[in-house]
Amino acid sequence: MGKTFKRTTVTSALPYANGPVHIGHLAGVYVPADIYVRYLRLKGRDVIFIGGSDEHGVPVTIRARKEGITVQEVVDRYHNLIKQSFEDFGISFDVYSRTTSATHHKLASDFFRKLYDEGKFVEQVSEQFYDEQTGRFLTDRNIRGECPRCHAPEAYGDQCEKCGATLSPEELINPYNAETGNPLVKKATKHWYLPLDKDQEWLEKWILEDHKEWRSNVYGQCKSWLDGGLRPRAVTRDLDWGIPVPVEGAEGKVLYVWFDAPIGYISNTKELCDAHPELGSWETWWKDPETRLVHFIGKDNIVFHCIVFPAMLKAHGEYILPDNVPSNEFLNLEGNKISTSKNYAVWLNEYLVDMPGRQDELRYVLTANAPETKDNDFTWADYQARCNNELVAVYGNFVNRALQLTQKYYEGRVPACGELNDYDRETLAEFRDVKERLENLLENFRFRDAQKEAMNLARIGNKYIADCEPWKVIKTDPERVKTIINISLQLTANLAIAFEPFLPFSSKRLRTMLAMDSFSWEDLGSTSLMQEGHQLPKPELLFTKVEDEAIEAQVRKLEDTVKANAEADYKAEPVKPDIPFEDFEKLDIRVGLVKACEKVKKSKKLLKFTLDDGSGKDRTILSGIAQWYEPERLIGKRVLFVANLAPRQMMGETSCGMILSAVNYNGDLSVTTTLDEVKGGSQVG
Ligand code: MF3
Ligand code: ZN
Repeated sequence: MGKTFKRTTVTSALPYANGPVHIGHLAGVYVPADIYVRYLRLKGRDVIFIGGSDEHGVPVTIRARKEGITVQEVVDRYHNLIKQSFEDFGISFDVYSRTTSATHHKLASDFFRKLYDEGKFVEQVSEQFYDEQTGRFLTDRNIRGECPRCHAPEAYGDQCEKCGATLSPEELINPYNAETGNPLVKKATKHWYLPLDKDQEWLEKWILEDHKEWRSNVYGQCKSWLDGGLRPRAVTRDLDWGIPVPVEGAEGKVLYVWFDAPIGYISNTKELCDAHPELGSWETWWKDPETRLVHFIGKDNIVFHCIVFPAMLKAHGEYILPDNVPSNEFLNLEGNKISTSKNYAVWLNEYLVDMPGRQDELRYVLTANAPETKDNDFTWADYQARCNNELVAVYGNFVNRALQLTQKYYEGRVPACGELNDYDRETLAEFRDVKERLENLLENFRFRDAQKEAMNLARIGNKYIADCEPWKVIKTDPERVKTIINISLQLTANLAIAFEPFLPFSSKRLRTMLAMDSFSWEDLGSTSLMQEGHQLPKPELLFTKVEDEAIEAQVRKLEDTVKANAEADYKAEPVKPDIPFEDFEKLDIRVGLVKACEKVKKSKKLLKFTLDDGSGKDRTILSGIAQWYEPERLIGKRVLFVANLAPRQMMGETSCGMILSAVNYNGDLSVTTTLDEVKGGSQVG
């Protein structure tokens, strides 16, 4: 802290090109990074913003096999889709490239080779699972087998989803290839390791002592890794997708995706600077100690950016280390974890189809609710409330009043500012204070609070115009109204600046409505942004209300996904152990004709059935299916029931038997019946 830098290199995690990007990505990494970069640019600082797709690793290969297309096709498709989504949401990268680029392959390969030549790696042979029929080594996720704890037949090499146990592939009973089903054998293979244990000391000092200002979630995670003691990490893999290990005898091996991907930041900077000589050499942005390096990432990336990548950079020797690594926690969606593989997300490309033109609304809500210090939940109800009660009712309302009144009273020309009264001065003073607070918060990566301050400016404006009531004063003191409107317009122009990092699309529209061409951060707080006589065009609404129907449709979409997943995941319970025929014969199952059916008072669950069971006497059975049936619907139906179950007392009634229902995958009950009209009392068997 305290060090001043000449320029800033901002990176944001390279998303895997194995699917589209969703609101979790945006909230966790790209919106905060974009806010920060836009702010620095407005301040006139030297900054580059680096992005790109992470196209290596296992996830893209899994996607390819699932979809039956080549890996190259997968990464091409998603790289383009992701790039487009970022553009659509105004994420203002200076470069968005990909780790399959030739520049990157060469740079990453050279990086590895330099470390290799200087003896910075440790070589180690180990036994790994191997599929002899496909000639491939397998990653943990691609290995399945019987769980050693609960004996579920399909546990993964790293975890059993049935009992939740964390596993290593060695523990699985009869491991097999998850995709081919082939049995696996152990085979020796050589890999290169980054001996992180040797970096323990300097990393401890560098992070735990010199970077106490890092966010507590980041600092805490680093501390716990360091306290646990660092171990060597393999930086190569047996895979056929990736950057070949540039060493003789390493055929069939590639660089581990977490080795090459962060180097992608550097490669992409090189591509940017090669295309834009005015930015100077790429090396200035990565090697000059007067450059400040900042990585925006999600919390699952902390160890790689705070420990592994810095260790790589240090081993290489020429590079600067990150000055800060602002990492967010996770964003949940309507109370559930967002999941690419389960298709449970709000995908950015789909959002724009459903909510056209509402980029800033989403940016706003994601920042207002950003998971900066803990996991947070995105709900559509909150989205609607924030859009309608904050963007429309506060910011939009103020701007609209100021602009409409200017049209109405002065044909769109900025009126002169007369003498200020105490209330005017108070309002302006409040307004100026915000600038400093806003800057402090932005410099410290506290975007959520920063946006709140910007919204405060709009609140001040809204209150000012409401308190001054120019629409009344116009009748008694038209000179005073000129001052009120002038001040309101100055505040409006300030809002266009203050919100630019957060809501770039709306700021741009607002600047058009103000016919305001040049502006900079330093203007914030100024009361002479709008000159007397300046002509404004006809205004439009800055924000429009989000209607209930749009929200309901989004909620339904998510519910449908949950339902489809539950159906797809459903596996029938294992069959119970065999029983002898005599045991079956003991059960007396019969058909009953429902003569009457009603709710049991004071019970939410129970229905009371009166059955014709062929005996000539009515039989009463209580059944816990009230949640699924209106009783009237069951009258006249034939149901199956166990006739010789010993009578039981329930809610003051005697239940003689049990009505049979099927339990659906989601726990819903469905009463069983007969296809044909069988007489009450008939035996089932
Ligand atoms: N693709 C990784 C993820 O989505 C992030 C890579 S960041 C980089 O978790 F530093 F490796 F580029
Ligand atoms: Zn298990």
